[in-house]
Amino acid sequence: MANLSRNKNDKRLVEFLQRIFDRIPVGLYRTTPEGRIIHANLALARMLGYESVEDLKSRDLEIEGYEPSYPRKDFKERIEREGSIHGLDARWRRTDGTFVDVREYAEAVRDGSGKVVFYDGAAEDVTEFKNAEKTIMEREREYRSLSGMFRLLADNMQDMLWAKDLQGRYLFANRALCERILNASDTSEPIGKTDMYFAERERGAHPEDPEWHTFGEICAGSDAEALRVKGPCQFEEFGNAQGQSLFLDVRKAPLVDEGGDIIGVVGSAREVSREKELESEQRRSRKELEKAYQRLRSTQESTLRVMAKLVETRDPYTSGHQGRVALLAVAIAREMGLDEETREVLRVASLVHDIGKLRIPIEILSKPGHLAPMEMELIKEHSRAGAEIISEIRFFRPVDEIILQHHERLDGSGYPRGLSDEQILIEARILAVADVVEAMSADRPYRLTFPCR
Ligand SMILES: [Fe+2]
Repeated sequence: MANLSRNKNDKRLVEFLQRIFDRIPVGLYRTTPEGRIIHANLALARMLGYESVEDLKSRDLEIEGYEPSYPRKDFKERIEREGSIHGLDARWRRTDGTFVDVREYAEAVRDGSGKVVFYDGAAEDVTEFKNAEKTIMEREREYRSLSGMFRLLADNMQDMLWAKDLQGRYLFANRALCERILNASDTSEPIGKTDMYFAERERGAHPEDPEWHTFGEICAGSDAEALRVKGPCQFEEFGNAQGQSLFLDVRKAPLVDEGGDIIGVVGSAREVSREKELESEQRRSRKELEKAYQRLRSTQESTLRVMAKLVETRDPYTSGHQGRVALLAVAIAREMGLDEETREVLRVASLVHDIGKLRIPIEILSKPGHLAPMEMELIKEHSRAGAEIISEIRFFRPVDEIILQHHERLDGSGYPRGLSDEQILIEARILAVADVVEAMSADRPYRLTFPCR
């Protein structure tokens, strides 16, 4: 009776252990060295694509033990030699032809004579782990490839590039920066070092020249500014590196980690020393040109005054006439809103508008009373003669047409061409008005002045 009860309990225990054996998520087995499966749990059967353990038992491990790159004979030799296998990564073929990555633990079971009679083992499905590992390796390979490409690009550009941490220590420096500013032996030397390290080293190597290297302090200052602004900044930095003065167009921005925290500063710098030198040369040239222009203006003004004086010395009654006409004409033009250039052309034309009188005999110019018709015709020639004289002088070229037209009248009654209305230049119309008004306000040999307000 007692035996019966014990047998019942043993049977329950075996069933209980079998349930655990089947439900455990790791594949378990016992096989013969010849590749026959004696025991296996359901997890192993499912792992390999079988519906049941019985189906799995039909598998011949000698043929389908492992993938070709790790044949079963290697497994057998190893377990015979070492007695156990601990953590063998291998791939087993599923019934559908796909592979499952397993990590295997196995032990040789020997009989009393020491002969191996079974292999007891466990196979853990590590496919997910292997896939994750593969993804990480691919990402690392991509990163290394990108990083190599970036390094190649960075080291083959003329601009300087860098990244620093919050303590100003270099995290990255390209070749241009190392060669142009830091005087570093290669791009790995600056890593972990600051600008001040290189500044002090450079100055220490050239005690005879305190200005040998001045970029250390300048860089630290602009880094601090980029961190304060917390955004992209542009600086013009001027200083000395390796004993040479450099002008840099510098861009800096905070370096931010994946969480958005600022962890340093990134920057780039382009040397613009030559551009700045050219700018300065252009400024100097502009100033010299301006001076030359002023000298020319002064000479022109003197020439104009002399020409005006020449006419007026031949006719004392018209003394100062052209100068006063010029003042009046410019005042009218300003009142009309004409631009400065037009006013200047008008002023010049007014100052010498009667220059053509140089070709008229002095007796006619200063004759009191009325002129004979022939004398009048001669007088009328002065506007054409004036235009001709002025056109000889290249600088006054725009002025000649105004002089030519200064006796034309809106109703067509003027001379020399009898132009009317819009045919007459606005400058010539203003000059004509100023000429008449000034003449009316002064004495002439043939009449006294008109009162003029
Ligand atoms: Fe005139």
